[in-house]
Amino acid sequence: MKTDREKWDHRYSQETVQTLTPDSFLYDYQGLLSSGRALDAACGLGANSIFLAAHGYEVDAIDISIVAVSRLRAEATHRNLPIRCLVADLDNYILPKQIYDLVVVFYFFFSSFHCPNT
Ligand SMILES: C[S@@+](CC[C@H](N)C(=O)[O-])C[C@H]1O[C@@H](n2cnc3c(N)ncnc32)[C@H](O)[C@@H]1O
Repeated sequence: MKTDREKWDHRYSQETVQTLTPDSFLYDYQGLLSSGRALDAACGLGANSIFLAAHGYEVDAIDISIVAVSRLRAEATHRNLPIRCLVADLDNYILPKQIYDLVVVFYFFFSSFHCPNT
């Protein structure tokens, strides 16, 4: 049986187009954004991380998929955006306390067939 990482790596390996459109919720409420440190948990290809970094946040982007995180890292480097990309399993990764000004988690529990942003 495939692990979550294998399933998501496979999924992202099949995705040739990297959507950079943030989630509509984040887009609609961008007027509330400020600056500081943000966490994008289960970031996937990182459209929301990129959006937040472009709006002034230093972003920690975490996902279990090595493929997704590698692609996000390349995109962040290309755009010179302050996104720290980390491969980790959030089922057992211990997040630091009280360091983030903003935490976003979009569709962490969605199945691979219903990922809206990839
Ligand atoms: C439906 S996608 C959502 C991606 C992104 N948040 C978005 O809105 O485009 C779900 C994400 O959760 C990640 N994921 C699944 N299980 C995970 C786990 N245990 N730890 C970290 N990330 C996980 C997958 O790799 C995938 O990128």
